[in-house]
Formats: sequence, structure tokens, C-alpha cells
Amino acid sequence: MQAPVLQSVTVEILVDNFFDIFEPSKPGMVERAVLGRMPKPLLAAHGLAMLVTLSQNGKQTRILVDTANSPLSFFNNLEAMEHKVEEVDALFISHGHPDHYGGLMELLQRRGPGVPVYLHQDCYYPKLLVTPRGRVGPFALVRDNLVAGGAQLHENQGPALLQDMALLTGTVEATTSYEKPLPGFKRVVQGQEEPDPFSDEQALVLNVAGKGLVVIGGCCHPGIVNMTKYAQKLTGVNQVAAIIGGFHLTAGGDDLINGTIAGLKEMHPDLVLAGHCTGFKALTRMAAELPDNFMVSCVGTKVIIGG
Ligand SMILES: [Fe+2]
Ligand SMILES: [Fe+2]
Repeated sequence: MQAPVLQSVTVEILVDNFFDIFEPSKPGMVERAVLGRMPKPLLAAHGLAMLVTLSQNGKQTRILVDTANSPLSFFNNLEAMEHKVEEVDALFISHGHPDHYGGLMELLQRRGPGVPVYLHQDCYYPKLLVTPRGRVGPFALVRDNLVAGGAQLHENQGPALLQDMALLTGTVEATTSYEKPLPGFKRVVQGQEEPDPFSDEQALVLNVAGKGLVVIGGCCHPGIVNMTKYAQKLTGVNQVAAIIGGFHLTAGGDDLINGTIAGLKEMHPDLVLAGHCTGFKALTRMAAELPDNFMVSCVGTKVIIGG
């Protein structure tokens, strides 16, 4: 499926797990927040939200990718970064975990009816986590609530276009040996708990003229290398400009971290911006092994590709 060619893409990290005022910028590509120039402080939180601005033929479209873990972090940071809910043309929910849809219902309420919301049809299965300290959840994104909230739903299973400007991968094809759904993640299907295959998680794929693909994942439970390789296969574009998101690596152990770093190196992305659920150990390993193109995703960071 063709991914429409865009002139430029900017990705603003509205909510993420990290903030470090001393993380450097990369002029022309990655700009960090300058707290002293912002109208209010930024909040870091275990969640993810990004505002993605696409430029095509002089027209700009703004896509909100995920809505963080709660309205508290989401709306605080939206205001701190001087954006308004009215600017959002469409929403994309990366997968059905509550740290990605926590601000969604309040956003719909503030935005008013009719906003397009793109998500995989499997996002509605209740999800839970079984940890050494006990069970967490189940949590569910309730379709009826979204409809009642005025969302104009666009549900997909396979590849689909978002606003004729971006590609959604649909369920990700697994091709690497080291990226497997982690034990402990469950979903509930027809009343029965089962290991979560993460059929609901998909990447947002943007194709920037002269730069290549920008691949954005939420938690990347299907594996960031699987997701990027699948984006390359679907689009026929091999050049990778940026890979952005939470990579969920440390919890998977050294084999997953090592395999993923090797896989990322093979794809030669200009930028790897990882945060959220990636985990401290994996972040530090990537920082050491991808010194020229890895950067940690902090709240308030702005990535500029093309233009
Ligand atoms: Fe997450
Ligand atoms: Fe997740």
C-alpha cells in the first residue's frame, strides 16, 4: 500500500516518562524544551502522547498519537506546549493500553463531536497485566463510550490510510526471532483470559520526500524491528528517517535488547528516539551502541523531518 509522500513531518512529545533538561538538541532535527520559556511546567508520566504535524501540498494536518495516561498530564502539557484541542484534526490510538488512552474521553468532551479516531478493532478487548506483585487490571477502552463521546470511529484490522496522509500498518507481521509477546500481558476474549498477541498494536507510518519513513509506535509490543520492517514491506520504501516511540525492551531481557539493537543498526535510521516503556537498561545500551543517531524521548521534545 502506498504511503502518501509528505513534504515534512514534525513530532512533538506531549507526554512521556522522562524529562532531563540537560539532554542535548540536534540542530535542525531535534529541539528540546526550554522550560524557562514555557507558560507552565511540563509533567513527565508513565504514558505517551505526541502531536504529529504533516505537511502536504501546502496543507497542514495535525494528528494526535495517543492521549497519555490521564487528563492531568495530557492537558497540562498541551497547555505548556501552547497547543489547543481545536488544533487536532484526527486521533490515532496505538493500542488498547490505558497509559495511551487515559486522556481520551476528556479530550472528546473538550473537542466536541465529530473528531475522527483511528484505532485497531482489537483495541477494545479488556487488558490486564500479571506481575510478581499481583494482577493489574483488567482495563478496557469501551467502544460505546467513544461513540457516546462523539468520536467518528475508523477501525481497521489490516493496513489502512489515515486522512489520506499517513499509513496505519494494521496487525504487525512478525518476522524477527527475538521479538515475541512478553508473558504477563493478557487480554480477555469472550470472558476468557488469554496471552495477549498484541494484534491491536499498529504503527503510524509517514513517508517524507527525500528522507524516507517515519515510524511511530506506542509501546511497540509487537517489536520495533518487526514494526519497521513491516512498514518497509508495505510501502516499498526502505530508507528510514526516524523511529519514534516506547520500545518495551528492558522487561524482555538481554536477548531482546541485543537483537533489537542489531536490527536497528541494519536499518540505518537517521534518528532513533525512544522513551516511555523502553526501560532504563535498554535506553543506556542504545545510547552506547547507537551514539550518532539515538536520543532519549523527553517530554517537550520536537522532531523535525524534511521541509
Ligand atoms: Fe505504554
Ligand atoms: Fe502497552
